[in-house]
Amino acid sequence: MSEFTEALEMTLGALENLRGASDHPPRASRASLARLRAVRPAPNELADENKVARLSEMEARVAGCLKCPHLASSRTQTVFGVGNPTAELMFIGEAPGAEEDRQGEPFVGRAGQLLTKIIGAMGYSRDHVYIANVLKCRPDMPAGQPGNRKPTPDEMATCLPYLTEQIEIIGPKVLVALGATAVEGLLQIREPMGKLRGRWHSYRETPLMITFHPSYLLRNQNNTEKRKVWEDMLLVLERLERPISEKQRNFFR
Ligand code: URA
Repeated sequence: MSEFTEALEMTLGALENLRGASDHPPRASRASLARLRAVRPAPNELADENKVARLSEMEARVAGCLKCPHLASSRTQTVFGVGNPTAELMFIGEAPGAEEDRQGEPFVGRAGQLLTKIIGAMGYSRDHVYIANVLKCRPDMPAGQPGNRKPTPDEMATCLPYLTEQIEIIGPKVLVALGATAVEGLLQIREPMGKLRGRWHSYRETPLMITFHPSYLLRNQNNTEKRKVWEDMLLVLERLERPISEKQRNFFR
């Protein structure tokens, strides 16, 4: 990263945090932030080492984020994202659960283990792809209450700029959104999954496939639902021009 880009990133990060943390001056206007963002190098011009540097600068910034004070005080740590900074394929979930909050890595609980299997069946590993959530903090639960809750639209809107920045840096060829809540956070639309999945959408010009969240498959263990997710993943592989074996074509047939 050039000295200029490094200074720009640090300035932008500090101003964005200031803007997110308080309604009072001093804080940068949205127009000034947009002007600063506009002089960033375009993502497809970023060399691989710049992607690594930008993501690690961002990760440090996210770790100190106080935009949602209730989440900043309840989280064990932020859960930034994991995988290949130059991935062609990026998966997007909704928010860390208890296990992710504990380990600091997305999709490591039961749903995560299923996602890892799906990624493997596609011919990738977790190191080839990139995995992140709309929300970087675990949604807080009332004291002593187990389980997870859905992130609120406000929480997702506050955190979305981080995901957008990750997508811009990584520049994947294809995005996969897992479940209706991730879609709501990303596209601000609420539609039944039956209407959304299995066809191409886009997020800021990157092709976006929508499919069921792996936790839905854990609750509905029948092959019909598994096959739907697999069909969506075959569309993704075709779009990425990846070879598809007969065995892969016939999973769940
Ligand atoms: N569910 C998600 O949406 N994200 C995670 O990281 C874990 C479970």
